[in-house]
Amino acid sequence: MARLAVSVVLAILVVAPIILEGVAGSIVTCSGIVPARYRNDKVSITDFGAVGDGRTVNTKAFREAVYQIQHLRRRGGTLLYVPPGVYLTGSFSLTSHMTLYLARGAVIKATQDTWNWPLIAPLPSYGRGRERPGRRYMSLIQGHGLQDVVITGENGTIDGQGEVWWNMWRQGTLRYTRPHLVEFMNSRSIMISNVAFKNSPFWNIHPVYCSNVVIRYVTILAPYDSPNTDGIDPDSSSNVCIEDSHISVGDDLISVKSGWDEYGIHYGRPSSGITIRRITGSSPFSGISVGSEMSGGVENVLIENINLRNMGIGIHIKTNIGRGGFIRDITVSNVYMENVRKGIRIMGNVGDHPDHRYNRNALPYVKGIRIKDVWGVKVQEAGLIQGLKNSPFTGICLSNIYLHGVLGQSRAAWTCSDVSGAALEVSPWVCSELASTYQSSTCSNSFRV
Ligand SMILES: *[C@@H]1O[C@H](CO)[C@@H](O)[C@H](O)[C@H]1NC(C)=O
Repeated sequence: MARLAVSVVLAILVVAPIILEGVAGSIVTCSGIVPARYRNDKVSITDFGAVGDGRTVNTKAFREAVYQIQHLRRRGGTLLYVPPGVYLTGSFSLTSHMTLYLARGAVIKATQDTWNWPLIAPLPSYGRGRERPGRRYMSLIQGHGLQDVVITGENGTIDGQGEVWWNMWRQGTLRYTRPHLVEFMNSRSIMISNVAFKNSPFWNIHPVYCSNVVIRYVTILAPYDSPNTDGIDPDSSSNVCIEDSHISVGDDLISVKSGWDEYGIHYGRPSSGITIRRITGSSPFSGISVGSEMSGGVENVLIENINLRNMGIGIHIKTNIGRGGFIRDITVSNVYMENVRKGIRIMGNVGDHPDHRYNRNALPYVKGIRIKDVWGVKVQEAGLIQGLKNSPFTGICLSNIYLHGVLGQSRAAWTCSDVSGAALEVSPWVCSELASTYQSSTCSNSFRV
């Protein structure tokens, strides 16, 4: 791995700017992953009879608008304008070559008639709904098999009115898995920017089996106690860039996934080339996480400039027996965290299973996790790194990490098992499993600052 990194650096130095853009482009900036689009052709949702009075149900208007855009196929695509107002709607699909544009003061608001919500097939990499067996509810806004789609505007709002769904979850009356606010599946060239997401019934934004996805300048809000309202979950997707956003929700802010157990292993589609940076937020669960669904593999993830407050766990890498797959080449740097229960947690045995058919011998393979330049205050417990006995985590490298305990309490400490790697300048001092192998470690290379 280290040797490969060195030769890539050399190649870049030698072969100059064209390569530099191509190779480093996805690392240095989101720009270029999805080309900027100007749509000459524009229509307004009000042309289709929509009324933004907060009472009229506009599902038909949204479906007709998208149908027209799909069938008229204007050159360069079409922008669908949503003017200021509150547009109540049931779920609808998007089409290729379109921009959904929310004006300042425009709100797309989900209806609460959950009994009327359409059901769709479960994802093959999950084999069932994520939280209930069988089918799952369609997302409020979905795109399947699309390309060149933009959701943007002047910070208008997509509001899921999730309360009714959260209550069904709390009361145990949910029959199927709750809907996301936005899901793109098998799609490419997707851009989501300058939009606020509120009160999602379930995960907020879910790109699955996608490539070339940019999400930036978004605000995602849900109450601290709202169940499973993950912010953004890139799932079996490649070339995804998430930046400059604020997320404050009831579950993980961002979680990189790739299906679970026998379904994810069989589908075999990894998440790779994921960049996550300049994110602020808070939640009782994890800041930035990988897994625990990772059976298709997760690799080449860069996480940097993350600012977390009032968190359960700052950085969380989680997997499980039966998952198979791999987590490798994950780099985390420049993280500030304040008032968190656990700073860093890397765990081999968490999470649940889709069913009892999972293979107990399908062990995940975790190698090459570099975490550096982390500063934490009011951290109750510095870290926990627990590999699997029959699949120890290797190449876990920590450097320049300061996690301060809560004043007046005992100092935050680390707990480790079945892990090897290296540590440099970590306070409180990390467990001996990491420290002792420093000299010979393969990850000394990652300590170049
Ligand atoms: C966008 O809207 C969200 C939610 O209403 C708000 O918190 C945020 O500050 C707004 N951002 C901008 C740039 O106006």
